[in-house]
Amino acid sequence: MSSTPTIRRIALSTGGGDAPGLNAVIRAATIAARARGWDVVGIRDGFNGLMFPERYIDGGLIRLDRTTVRGITHTGGTIIGTTNRGNPMRFPVPQADGSYRDEDRTDELIARFRMHDIDALVTIGGDGSLTLADHLHRKGLWVVGVPKTIDNDLDKTEATFGFDTAVAFATECIDRLNSTAASHGRIMVVEVMGRYAGWIALNAGVASAADVVLIPEIPYDINKVAQKIRERQSAGRLFSIVVVAEGAKPVDGNVTVRGKSVGQAERLGGIGEKVAHELEEITGKETRVVVLGHLLRGGSPTAFDRLVGLRFGAAAIRALEEGQRGVMVSLTPPTVSYVPLEAACSRMKTVPIDSDTMLTARDMGMSFGD
Ligand code: F6P
Repeated sequence: MSSTPTIRRIALSTGGGDAPGLNAVIRAATIAARARGWDVVGIRDGFNGLMFPERYIDGGLIRLDRTTVRGITHTGGTIIGTTNRGNPMRFPVPQADGSYRDEDRTDELIARFRMHDIDALVTIGGDGSLTLADHLHRKGLWVVGVPKTIDNDLDKTEATFGFDTAVAFATECIDRLNSTAASHGRIMVVEVMGRYAGWIALNAGVASAADVVLIPEIPYDINKVAQKIRERQSAGRLFSIVVVAEGAKPVDGNVTVRGKSVGQAERLGGIGEKVAHELEEITGKETRVVVLGHLLRGGSPTAFDRLVGLRFGAAAIRALEEGQRGVMVSLTPPTVSYVPLEAACSRMKTVPIDSDTMLTARDMGMSFGD
């Protein structure tokens, strides 16, 4: 019978875009691990602290204890830093001809864990970070993953922290836009993040009673959107609120991409501007566009996100104590459970177009431009 190896030292890392609630995970995991007598280090900026220690005054690792994690539950961001470029599985290496070739540098990364006597890793991230976590697990590193994303596009967990905060803030912003839109009789187009899933747009749109919501799951016809605005106009409603997910696309077009840097995923954005311009042309109504962008990622997490973050952090430590490896902590109400990392990364969770939130929106008369 194999027994669980003794843990002396663990590392925490946060990868991908930051999300409100990361610090709650760091705090809970640190305190729970310290209570078991384990040493805890935070790796700076994803895995950069381990891969490129020369870049950091402190050598790239931060010792975490009760003092370093004090008073951070309610703060946004991550105290250990994060990055969404330079994934060690596909590290971009410049070539003589100016191009880049992706190299797998995970053997080197694992060697660094051994060099620092780190027995196990708790890695907090989205699909990219969790796919990397699964890869490291298969190469023999002891890993437990914690799901994070404001986009809510991770499968095998009911929710991730960050999403609730993003939806609450977007809702408040749209509420505020209502009065100015009504005062001027304008169309207000609000672009929100979410990558290739429409969760933030849908939930904030429904919560704020927007008139039109455009999501990636339903390619839109701009004439149908204009028709909805004209119908409102005829009924005496002189303004309209149109919420657009950054990944929304027209029936005859593609996702709007801002660009792509080396070692990074493509940057979405700009669809709000396009929709606003076209609506102004078709309806003749004055239109303004507001891009909420990174405001959705900043600020203090909601109570829900703090709680999920704390529960995930403590559950990750319990998983290690039980000897679990290669798993992701998952919210499965009323409890927290564990799923294999592989299963968690196998598909992106998009909005089911027959979900009850969608049906509610349709029953309320909301247009999806279809
Ligand atoms: O995945 C989270 C997210 O905020 C997306 O909604 C958005 O497309 C992306 O990150 C933006 O990333 P960056 O920080 O590179 O601008």
